[in-house]
Amino acid sequence: MVDLAGLSTALRRQGMGWPGFIIDKTALSVNLERVLPRARAERLRLVLKSLPCPSLVDHLMHQADTTKLMVFHLPNLLAAARRWPNADLMLGKPLPAAAVDAFYRHFRADSGFDPTRQLHWLVDDAARVRSLAELAKAHGVRMSVVIELDVGMHRGGATDAKALIDVLAALGHVVPFLRLAGFMGYDAQAGRAPFWVGRKRAVKAANRRYREFLGLVQREAPALWPQQPLINGSGSPTCTDHDEGSPLNELAIGSVLVKPAEFDLPQLSAFQPACWIAAPLIKRMAGVRLPFLEALAPLSWRDTVFAYGGRWAARPEWPQGLRPSRLYGPSFNQQFFTVPRQSPVQVDDFIFFRPLQSEQLMRQFGMVTMVEQGQIVERWPVLDSFQNLALSGWGGSESAAEC
Ligand SMILES: Cc1ncc(COP(=O)(O)O)c(C=O)c1O
Repeated sequence: MVDLAGLSTALRRQGMGWPGFIIDKTALSVNLERVLPRARAERLRLVLKSLPCPSLVDHLMHQADTTKLMVFHLPNLLAAARRWPNADLMLGKPLPAAAVDAFYRHFRADSGFDPTRQLHWLVDDAARVRSLAELAKAHGVRMSVVIELDVGMHRGGATDAKALIDVLAALGHVVPFLRLAGFMGYDAQAGRAPFWVGRKRAVKAANRRYREFLGLVQREAPALWPQQPLINGSGSPTCTDHDEGSPLNELAIGSVLVKPAEFDLPQLSAFQPACWIAAPLIKRMAGVRLPFLEALAPLSWRDTVFAYGGRWAARPEWPQGLRPSRLYGPSFNQQFFTVPRQSPVQVDDFIFFRPLQSEQLMRQFGMVTMVEQGQIVERWPVLDSFQNLALSGWGGSESAAEC
């Protein structure tokens, strides 16, 4: 476990004087090791939205020896196709026709990435199939598609046999413009199942549904069945539940590798928190004086501190007893907190928070600060959507081409 008091001293010593998103490399590696036996290298698909930092993804792709990524956002897709020309990219949600159209208008083939083989669009119903086929014809391309299956999350995709047969029939009509590459059934609902169902039972039920869907495709549309079907599913909340008996041949995982606070689930207890927000203290004041309630100040047994920045979707973590106030409004600029009188933190020390999620929070900081054994070892830029839009031909400057 990371010593946050020691890390505060190290960040100060290394001249950091602003808030940062910190990732501990050792904890990150430990978490990857926990995932790998279940998602052997060729089965691991890294979820880009949950790890929105290209160098971090490079590091994980290298350590896990995988080239598979799941992408959710057009600018990130364009950036990923450019940065990782050997990657296998799969969409984690269906995109609007206009976004698919924009991909083919703005994608630059010079990187060596071949969308026909290396990019899999997600189709959730027959209408989506027809709309993608129209676009494929219009652009003179062939597209690879993955069918979204509803295995209990009810967030979209084929919900029953009839819906799946409709998708298959629509696909049958548009061969060869669309080629079926496989399936995606996300089962996060099972990882957070209520107590009266239980996680294990919920995962079993989702797996059973998945198998039934696969059986149906083999029976009803054997001609469409891919030679090497991509059978994707899982996610951080169920990554420990998919073992040899799972129908999946790849697991899409992101968040648990850095384990933000919303992933403190019993089944993920072997994973270590690997990310924090660190913010310097800019002020410490004895007692707590609230505007209009100054008369209550003598009653306080806590001290006031102000952080550089604030209002993050994050939980106070260190020092012990660090608390926001319900009476003093939150601030993005300098947030009010209180600490116990005996708390040792002083101005210029860092205080730490555990982000609830990694996906948007990491991007708020522009850079990820990588630490190892209590020292800053690297600073990596985050994915910047607008910069990526610019670099892919939406009118920005070419100099923004670093993604
Ligand atoms: C389709 C899909 N697969 C997998 C994931 C898992 O991502 P994570 O491991 O970051 O929870 C998500 C997360 O939203 C998802 O939407």
